[in-house]
Amino acid sequence: GSQCDLQGLWRNELGSNMTVLALNTAGTFSGSYHTAVAATNKQILVSPLQGAQQHPGAKRQPTFGFTVHWQFSGTAVLHHCFVGQCFVDHRGKETLETTWLLREEVPSLKDTWTATRVGTSTFTRVK
Ligand code: BTN
Repeated sequence: GSQCDLQGLWRNELGSNMTVLALNTAGTFSGSYHTAVAATNKQILVSPLQGAQQHPGAKRQPTFGFTVHWQFSGTAVLHHCFVGQCFVDHRGKETLETTWLLREEVPSLKDTWTATRVGTSTFTRVK
């Protein structure tokens, strides 16, 4: 059967687009993330991402993680990471099933309970 390949252009249920460039032999990769939505009303900019796939080449449906370095968050510092798995069905259709965490910089320890957002996201291949 075919192997799930992270490289390419992907879109999620929000309409965000993500480009993953070729993985190197160690399984690390870079790319870009163009979010369709934002937590603030700042102008959205395409933002770089860095990630790694586990056991490159060895796994049919590999797990991976990546972090996005937002270029537009302004004063509010948001740090965002995804973990997920690449699935491929019997027709060769690939899906990325992910869970994300978004950490916001808050003024003090007592605000830390407000600082983390969590969600799930499904990406399908565009190209
Ligand atoms: C910001 O608002 O300052 C950063 C952008 C955050 C976009 C979030 S991350 C999780 C969710 N999935 C997306 O594709 N976009 C939103």
